[in-house]
Amino acid sequence: MSAMKTEDAANGKSTANGGGIVYEEGGVTVLSPTDLSEMLAAGTKEVHEKAENTEFVKDFLKGRIRKELFKLGHVALYFTYSAMEEEIERNKEHPQFAPLYFPHELHRRDALARDLEFFYGEDWQDQISVSPATQRYVDRIHQVGREQPALLVAHAYTRYMGDLSGGQVLRKVAQRAMKLPPTGEGLNFYEFDGIHSAKAFKQLYRSRMNELELDTHIKEKIVEEAILAFQFNMEIFGELEEVGKTLQDDVLDAAPVHGEMQGDIS
Ligand code: HEM
Repeated sequence: MSAMKTEDAANGKSTANGGGIVYEEGGVTVLSPTDLSEMLAAGTKEVHEKAENTEFVKDFLKGRIRKELFKLGHVALYFTYSAMEEEIERNKEHPQFAPLYFPHELHRRDALARDLEFFYGEDWQDQISVSPATQRYVDRIHQVGREQPALLVAHAYTRYMGDLSGGQVLRKVAQRAMKLPPTGEGLNFYEFDGIHSAKAFKQLYRSRMNELELDTHIKEKIVEEAILAFQFNMEIFGELEEVGKTLQDDVLDAAPVHGEMQGDIS
């Protein structure tokens, strides 16, 4: 949803804000098209629609999730977030990233590690490996973190804002489809314990993005980088689709995971 309301310009007062204008009406700040949050939302709209329409994502939403693929998806996420959060730690004091540093609220690496231990067992680290598409995504994240930290904003935006937008729906679908325990094992990735309201947190994150001192050229580079981040995600979905074609159909009804029989039997 776009918060931009140009008609407010006539009624509200306006103040200069870097390159853009902020219109205020009734104490509500209305965003300008040169605000990074608006540029990102508008600039990634088309690629977001593409991502929504990949077979892997569509199947997932329909509850057609094979456990083997879900596990491989989690592996890809684990390597991706490990790289991203390593670079975020490196840049946590960098002025072009520091206001977006929310490790307690957002970071996913440890949650993913717990999920992988649930799915693969104690020796999960010996059982997983990084796929080619994931490696390309990871390499880009490290390159950005070392050489152009402002572009890290694009990677954090693409993943964390997406997770906060769809997480609860995806969690429910995954739990039902794979009959995971209602106690939440295997689904830690979707749980943001440090965030009470995803909507309110996303607003805070948007306003923090808009407060970063960035010139228009860098903002445009960040939007380009976010489109690239979506494309990396889609390449991983494509890879998972290919793996899916090689899986036997019987994997669709995967064997119960340990702990499944505990808890709510209703
Ligand atoms: C935002 C749905 C897939 C990244 C949103 C929002 C919806 C949505 C409804 C808006 C939430 C709000 O305004 O509060 C979906 C659906 C998907 C999907 C139905 C799959 C079928 C993805 C994927 C990614 C992604 C694969 C990236 C890897 C984002 C981002 C936002 C977002 C970054 C924040 C947009 C902004 O406010 O600037 N999504 N999404 N989404 N989604 Fe998705």
